[in-house]
Amino acid sequence: MCGISAYYGKENGVPIILQGLQRLEYRGYDSAGLALLKNNEIEIIKTKGKITELKALAEGRSANIVMGHTRWATHGEPNYINAHPHSSADNSIAIVHNGIIENHAELRKELQEKYNYKFTSQTDSEVIAQLIQFFYKGDFEEAFRKMLTKIEGAFGIVALHKDHKQMLCARKGSPLVLGIKEGEYFIASDPTPFLEYTKEVIYLNEKQMAVIDDTGYKVKDFNGFNLTTELETVPYGIEAIQKGGFEHYMLKEIFEQPETILNCFRGKIRHIDSISIKKENIKRIIFVCCGTSFYAALVGKYIIEKTVNLPVSVEYASEFRYRQPMLFPTDLVIAVSQSGETADTLEAIRLSKSLGCNVAGIVNVTGSSIAKECGQGIYLHAGPEIGVASTKAFSSQIIAFILLSMYFSQNPYFRKEVIEDLEELPAKVKAFLQIQNIQSIAEKYKHAKFFMYMGRDINYPVAREGALKLKEISYIPAEGYAAGEMKHGPIALIDENTPSVFIVTKDSVYEKVISNMEEVKCRKGKIICICDEITEEIERLTNDIILVPKVRWELTPIINVLPLQLLAYYIAKANGREIDQPRNLAKAVTVE
Ligand code: M6R
Repeated sequence: MCGISAYYGKENGVPIILQGLQRLEYRGYDSAGLALLKNNEIEIIKTKGKITELKALAEGRSANIVMGHTRWATHGEPNYINAHPHSSADNSIAIVHNGIIENHAELRKELQEKYNYKFTSQTDSEVIAQLIQFFYKGDFEEAFRKMLTKIEGAFGIVALHKDHKQMLCARKGSPLVLGIKEGEYFIASDPTPFLEYTKEVIYLNEKQMAVIDDTGYKVKDFNGFNLTTELETVPYGIEAIQKGGFEHYMLKEIFEQPETILNCFRGKIRHIDSISIKKENIKRIIFVCCGTSFYAALVGKYIIEKTVNLPVSVEYASEFRYRQPMLFPTDLVIAVSQSGETADTLEAIRLSKSLGCNVAGIVNVTGSSIAKECGQGIYLHAGPEIGVASTKAFSSQIIAFILLSMYFSQNPYFRKEVIEDLEELPAKVKAFLQIQNIQSIAEKYKHAKFFMYMGRDINYPVAREGALKLKEISYIPAEGYAAGEMKHGPIALIDENTPSVFIVTKDSVYEKVISNMEEVKCRKGKIICICDEITEEIERLTNDIILVPKVRWELTPIINVLPLQLLAYYIAKANGREIDQPRNLAKAVTVE
């Protein structure tokens, strides 16, 4: 994970980078640091704390060449010594790194034992700076490239040398984007740190590096050969990454859903055959994904199997890639990922490709590694999702599965009906978000020690997503279960102190869910019910009711997840949690 932001230009880069790092804190916030190049000296400022503390430490500093880092620890605990930037032993070189250097231990051992190099941190990253020093004979770029031939693993690296007015960077496995403005250059993990300065970008591809100096920028391969690149324009503005009056990004992103849902299907539903996924001879779809994207894909399985009659399996990418999956050229393997950078999902796609499968992506971030690797698929167009807890991406992913089912279905009636219902959906989502009673329900249950979430059929994965939301931002244990499975074990957890959140839509499994609610009720469990109709049974069985608008079956997960997102948000808020940056988590999991 980790966030990188760097500036080379004529302005004071310190405030630019500090502000940029703050925008990248979603990628990790264990520690932070800056390196300033000025008058043939590199000054390093670091803290175990967050960017606000770094800002105080960097007060009054100025330089035209600055790089910064916000860390999500992988090797070595989050402390001052392990914070980036890291320096070579002679302090001539500084680097920031995102990713994991897999062979760092052997490289470190060799430098220590054969050449008596001294290391100060426990990180894998420090070896990068030491290796550049090892190879340096007066040509910084050459030493940097030699270092690249030695390291294995994933990396986005930016490096400075005290005697060279140059900024070097390289990418393999971890994203880096260049921002280009007349006489000013930016390097970052994504474009958000420099959006107010430029929207013109170059996404570095795998095994590409860039050299920036007073003559401009050059993109090269790792052998030093110049490459031609195309400038792209970031498709959103600065307002997309601001809180816009909301207390937290998560709340803002929940309330953005009427628009993000619309953005996902607008422009596609009336041109469904223009979706760019090869579908000839496909006999099975496999979704590979993690976390919230996995639960969204489970919803996708219900939709596609029912409406298209095509078998669908949903796999945790982290399991799939290590278990020798049986794959065929007639499989369509689809990576589902908000960030487009999740390491396991990316590797699952690479594996599928190498075994001859057709691959595609359902991805939010344009130009991301997964989007590039797949080369075909559906973009969500949900805009930047900054809160670590994924919300608007989930609803947009479900829209993407509906689009996919329309694309695979040749049934004109199905397509027509779905178009009509989709067009009404944003207004229904908006109406629900304006009138709800969830904050008071959250207050009532905020001290509960454990929550159950239950649903059936297409709303079973939604129950799991609701439990994940609560766990990750409030730290309250929660289980998301298929309601029919409850009596096979989890019912033992129910007592008078256990709130159970039931999703009970008036559909083919309504009566079954009601029976499961009866079972909880007679064990004195508390029931919070999310329903689209308040029936006599629901009134009798439940302690709290959240009424959602009625929508067609395929769209119920989108409507039902809204109260679950809000419930998690308000419970976390009532418990004083750091909602946008929950402990131990980071937004883009770019390590395995
Ligand atoms: O960017 P991705 O969709 O690939 O990320 C997958 C998970 O890391 C992500 O959904 C994670 O579980 C979120 N924190 C959930 O809110």
